[in-house]
Amino acid sequence: MILCANFKANKTRQETRAYMAVVESFVSANDITDTIIVFPPFTALDHDPRNVLIGVQNGYPVQNGAYTGEIALEQLEEFGIKTILIGHSERRHIIGETQEQIAAKFRFFAEEGFAIVYCVGEPLEIREEGNNALMRYIEAQFEGIDLSYPDLIIAYEPVWAIGTGLTPSNRDIELIYGALRAKTKAPLLYGGSVKVDNAGEIMALNNVDGVLVGSASLSAHDFCEMIAQAAELKK
Ligand code: PGA
Repeated sequence: MILCANFKANKTRQETRAYMAVVESFVSANDITDTIIVFPPFTALDHDPRNVLIGVQNGYPVQNGAYTGEIALEQLEEFGIKTILIGHSERRHIIGETQEQIAAKFRFFAEEGFAIVYCVGEPLEIREEGNNALMRYIEAQFEGIDLSYPDLIIAYEPVWAIGTGLTPSNRDIELIYGALRAKTKAPLLYGGSVKVDNAGEIMALNNVDGVLVGSASLSAHDFCEMIAQAAELKK
């Protein structure tokens, strides 16, 4: 299982330090063998991880240069970062990243050997059009993405489920993951309103290899509880 905590624009450097201390002690005290990845904000990357990976929520696909406000490879390398989140719906829909920009980012960081957590997911109006429309939409989000990249992890996160408390039915999740599994061997994560109450059930579904957690991951206690649930599944 792979469990990711996406802090988004939450937590200070000090809060992240305290959080990592709790999660890292939990992982070592319980001999957790699942992969745990925390994505803090850029300001909180100065951490020497022990048994938890630290990734970034974004990065600009250049070595360095005149790109005001961006963080490029050179700055990430200083912190030993080798894991990146690409294609998150908040970057697609709030920041306005296009599929072309996302694919360029993917190519750059894949060439640099990063582990890439690549996010896809449909808005509600597409979901309401039915399964064919949904799969066509996701298909378009795979444009320019090498689905056989060995360090690829895919996170399916329906836009309407992110931060809303809504989740697709287990049957719908299994349907989509069956279709995704036919396209790629990459581990498949579910994201969108995952919490302590539903994480175990979702992780137990066919073809689901883990979760990408936003708001509920902000509590170290809750995130550890989800890690414990994954360990119990022994999937
Ligand atoms: P959420 O966010 O868990 O708060 O719904 C998930 C995500 O955006 O990765």
